[in-house]
Amino acid sequence: MEIYTYIGNVLVSVNPYQQLPIYGPEFIARYWDHTFYELKPHVYALANVAYQSLRDQDQDQCILITGESGAGKTEASKLVMTYVAAVCGEGERVNSVKEQLLQSNPVLEAFGNAKTIRNNNSSRFGKYMDVEFDFKGSPLGGIITNYLLEKSRVVKHFEGERNFHIFYQLLAGADPQLLKALKLERDTNGYAYLNPGASRVDGVDDTANFKALQSAMTVIGFSKEEIRQVLEVVALVLKLGNVELADEFQANGAPASGIRDGRGIQEIGEMVGLNSVELERALCSRTMETAKEKVVTALNVVQAQYARDALAKNVYSRLFNWLVNRINESIEVGTGEKRKVMGVLDIYGFEILEDNSFEQFVINYCNEKLQQVFIEITLKEEQEEYKREGIPWVKVDYFDNGIICNLIEHNQQGILALLDEECLRPGVVSDSTFLAKLNQVFSKHGHYESKVTQNAQHQYDHSMGLNCFRICHYAGKVTYNVNSFIDKNNDLLFRDLSQAMWKAQHPLLRSLFPEGDPKQASLKRPPTAGVQFKGSVAILMKNLYSKKPNYIRCIKPNEHQQRGEFSSELVAIQARYLGLLENVRVRRAGYAYRQAYRSFLERYRLLSQSTWPRWDGGDREGVEKVLGELSVSSEELAFGKTKIFIRSPKTLFYLEDQRRLRIQQLATLIQKVYRGWRCRIHYQLMRKSQILISSWFRGHMQKKRYGKMKASALLIQAFARGWKARKNYRKYFRSGAALTLSNFIYKNIARKFLLGLKNDLPSTNVLDKRWPAAPYKYFNTANHELQKLFYQWKCKKFRDQLSPKQVEVLREKLCASELFKGKKASYPQSVPIPFHGDYIGLQGNPKLQKLKCREEGPVLVAEAVMKVNRGNGKTSSRILLLTKGHVIIADTKNSQAKAVIALNGVAGVSVTSFKDGLFSLHLSEISSVGSKGDFLLVSEHVIELLTKMYQAVLDATQRQLPVTVTEEFSVRFKESSLAVKVIQGPGGGGNGKLSCKKKGSRCLEVTVQ
Ligand SMILES: Nc1ncnc2c1ncn2[C@@H]1O[C@H](COP(=O)(O)OP(=O)(O)OP(=O)(O)O)[C@@H](O)[C@H]1O
Ligand SMILES: [Mg+2]
Repeated sequence: MEIYTYIGNVLVSVNPYQQLPIYGPEFIARYWDHTFYELKPHVYALANVAYQSLRDQDQDQCILITGESGAGKTEASKLVMTYVAAVCGEGERVNSVKEQLLQSNPVLEAFGNAKTIRNNNSSRFGKYMDVEFDFKGSPLGGIITNYLLEKSRVVKHFEGERNFHIFYQLLAGADPQLLKALKLERDTNGYAYLNPGASRVDGVDDTANFKALQSAMTVIGFSKEEIRQVLEVVALVLKLGNVELADEFQANGAPASGIRDGRGIQEIGEMVGLNSVELERALCSRTMETAKEKVVTALNVVQAQYARDALAKNVYSRLFNWLVNRINESIEVGTGEKRKVMGVLDIYGFEILEDNSFEQFVINYCNEKLQQVFIEITLKEEQEEYKREGIPWVKVDYFDNGIICNLIEHNQQGILALLDEECLRPGVVSDSTFLAKLNQVFSKHGHYESKVTQNAQHQYDHSMGLNCFRICHYAGKVTYNVNSFIDKNNDLLFRDLSQAMWKAQHPLLRSLFPEGDPKQASLKRPPTAGVQFKGSVAILMKNLYSKKPNYIRCIKPNEHQQRGEFSSELVAIQARYLGLLENVRVRRAGYAYRQAYRSFLERYRLLSQSTWPRWDGGDREGVEKVLGELSVSSEELAFGKTKIFIRSPKTLFYLEDQRRLRIQQLATLIQKVYRGWRCRIHYQLMRKSQILISSWFRGHMQKKRYGKMKASALLIQAFARGWKARKNYRKYFRSGAALTLSNFIYKNIARKFLLGLKNDLPSTNVLDKRWPAAPYKYFNTANHELQKLFYQWKCKKFRDQLSPKQVEVLREKLCASELFKGKKASYPQSVPIPFHGDYIGLQGNPKLQKLKCREEGPVLVAEAVMKVNRGNGKTSSRILLLTKGHVIIADTKNSQAKAVIALNGVAGVSVTSFKDGLFSLHLSEISSVGSKGDFLLVSEHVIELLTKMYQAVLDATQRQLPVTVTEEFSVRFKESSLAVKVIQGPGGGGNGKLSCKKKGSRCLEVTVQ
């Protein structure tokens, strides 16, 4: 559903009577990003234009919201405020200002709105709110001005309508303690000022709203005490309504009045700290004061009721004004700052009711004035601008309502002036005298009609009553009933009442009636309602004229607050009242869009090659270039003196599209350049860092290398220097110190070793072979040599102490060892036995001694031997003597020599290797006995015998006797030879016993047992 449209830049809004999904942050963001015509018409778009031109062009703005009751003005104003609040920046202070501005709404709505037949939340006052911003567009605060609260509603309202919301909210939402403190009851039926039957309204939650009201008041800055006092005053009004008045009579019989039930007034008195008697007196009597005297008149019941209601209305409306002022105190901006202002006007639109009274009259007067603003600023301005710019203009006729405004507001001859005059005039004054005066003054006025003027013109209109007059407003004719015009204009409260109120202890109530203070009492009348309203309208006008107006025209589509119902007639009437038709006509005749060359060029310069990025020419030429290049048709354009005019929005959209495309391109370009720049910077940074790192690294490496080289160089240097120094110093010191030292040490060790040896020599016993081991390996050879030396020395020593005889014995033993050691088994046994030589007692046997020749010296060996018969192998004993030259074999029994063998005739000797004593004397053939053959003998001392024989042979013949150790040998025997074979017996030859056996003629087998 589309509820918005534009006529030029006027927003037309139709009340949808349902919540549409076209509001909220997402939409706010969307409208924030786009210009006015780019998106669908919306109240956000209008708010956006207003806010942006306020912020960017430093132009104060006002948003005029008009329309009938229930058309959606208040809703629209709230949407505008939410939009501005959402886009106007952030920050702690800004947010709290925003909150205060937004929260002023629920407070004013609670006290100033009421359910009417047309609107469940009808604003019963006009409101103009100036929001002030700093140069950045952040809100600083604001000022609220209220117009004409419909205070009559406090005491009286139509069937099906309600009193102001606050009464119901208080009764429904207050907790029991609060109710008790205010001496109220929850039931609305108990209060005369609250119409029974309409206490609940669909879709309105009074309880929740009361909570919201309290929190809003707190946010704005009302203290707890202030809130309580406000609610007490509200309760006072409710209670006043319940004060019933009864007829009474004065002593003289004149009617008077009195309070029927004193309880109510008592409670009021207690609550606000007021003497109830005094209050009763103030309600039921009136003091007339002249310069000379004071006259107290009793009031009859009707008058007293009037006074009571007047008091209630006054208290309430003054409370409302106080609230507005109190809010202003909180949101007002300190002086000194340069501000930009955005005004939002939410005021009843032009309306024609069935019965129009004073209130309607002033409202319509206000609307006339607003229409004038519209004419002055929009229509006239439009035409004049065309004229100024030198653009041909088809004149559009519109009605200039200046004459009507004049009719009402003229200082002497205006209706309001005449009304005031009538009110102040002494004498009998009534509504009809006022009407008569009007009829007289305006009898010829084109926009004034009444029964009298009609009669004069012979017109008969039955809709016109006798006590009515009619004004032809710009939007239509409205008939007003003059009843109570005078009263309402006078708006007087009896002084008794204001004085009574002033006497109350209650600070708020007291402050609402400053004129009650007797010191302030003056006889001067307060300004009338008409004058006051005229004054505030004049201020409002002044305010609006100084700002750029933005219009929101609200239309309600039907009378039933129904969604989806559209009454064309109703809308047509509203369209007329709102002046939309003139608006359309003017827009149609002219150009939809205009802008100064400079700002236009600034915005669209980028669309042309010649104006982007630089343009040095004039603004107008620049614009021509841009539009020429885009080939916009010339009918679409008009070049004024300072502005370019574009006929249809289509062209503007086209320009905007082109601009958006171009901006994208430029953005890409900027992005490209920026990215390139960033990458380059990044690269350079990295390169720098890399160079830095590598230089540090290289430096470090080189330092390390240098350190190493230096250390090496120092080492080499040290070596070289050392070497050099040593070379030099060698001259001065013993060159072979080391050698000397080592020699010294070596010698020392050697000395130690040798001394050690000396002190600890092994025994000199030749048989003791012990010798200490060398302490060092390198002494091994020397040690060995020493051992050898020592041994030899020991032996020599041993030898030296031997007697020649012992030497001889040993020499023989030596010779025996050379001959038999390791060869003959009987040798080892022979070693320890000394050689006796004489085994047969030669000394005692002279016979045997004779056998040897004299010259031959002593007998070397004399023993008994066995002779083996070579023929049969039998043995026979013999005596053998060995002398220096002979071997003599003699017979044992007679000691006769059987054979004397010269030693040089002994060719050799053969012995066995066994333990036996067998030996063979091989004789040379030339010897004298040789012819008999060789001797085979057995001696018990064969080793000794043969050794001595060997030596004797050596001594005698210088010949070495061959001694053969063998098991098989041959002996000569009678010209032939006999083979002797020696074998070992089963006993292993242990005892050396022999047994000879002849084996044939040529072989003799000898067995060693
Ligand atoms: N844009 C909207 N979307 C939804 N509902 C709306 C809108 N505008 C108005 N309404 C409905 O219409 C009702 C009347 O609107 P609003 O109170 O703004 O009228 P008004 O012009 O201020 O009337 P009055 O002159 O009596 O104060 C609102 O309570 C709401 O229910
Ligand atoms: Mg409203």
